[in-house]
Amino acid sequence: MGKRPGYDWILGGDLPELGHHSVAKHEVFDRYIAAYIRTLTRNHLKRALNLTIIDGFCGGGRYSLDGTEVDGSPLRMLAAVERAQAELSAARAMGFEIKADFVFIDDNPNHIEFLRDLLQRRGHGSRIGHDIRIIRSTFENAYPTVIEAIQKRAVLIARSFSRSVRLERRDVRDRAEHHEAAGQSRGDPDLHGR
Ligand SMILES: C[S@@+](CC[C@H](N)C(=O)[O-])C[C@H]1O[C@@H](n2cnc3c(N)ncnc32)[C@H](O)[C@@H]1O
Repeated sequence: MGKRPGYDWILGGDLPELGHHSVAKHEVFDRYIAAYIRTLTRNHLKRALNLTIIDGFCGGGRYSLDGTEVDGSPLRMLAAVERAQAELSAARAMGFEIKADFVFIDDNPNHIEFLRDLLQRRGHGSRIGHDIRIIRSTFENAYPTVIEAIQKRAVLIARSFSRSVRLERRDVRDRAEHHEAAGQSRGDPDLHGR
């Protein structure tokens, strides 16, 4: 792969300097994810949100900025979801779970290696291969497979949701039957007039 101008990550090397336009872009990511999750969780009857966040050009994940170090988009996305989860946990008496999957794609093997190492050092190592997927590929090539996996997950979630609704309905029916049988054995009036 030919070397492109711009950001470059290599394990043990210097961090790339973050451009000020990218600082603005990162602020937009943070605010966008927070606003998006807030919109999707307005319904107080909902107890969970399934979400897949794809960073198709994820880079190595860490930069220099005016003499300090700052996180790139992958860690910012993880942190934005954590903040949203904390907000929802505090606000919802019945609890709320954001079930988020993250897909980080980059076609540069050095950048992927750097990001994997960074995620491990930041305590996310056990998540890799579970709710965090790291893919070394061009976004264009990875995209169809990633979308297919999301669609399969959505079908599985829909199936397990309809199964849990069926189980809940059965539970309500069983409890009603049990209640009715118990009422009849106590000689309570038959509510159905039978
Ligand atoms: C500006 S850097 C990383 C930006 C990162 N999203 C952030 O905000 O911290 C862009 C990255 O895109 C990767 N890249 C460029 N073309 C790509 C492609 N077609 N598919 C996947 N990654 C690509 C580069 O290797 C580089 O790591």
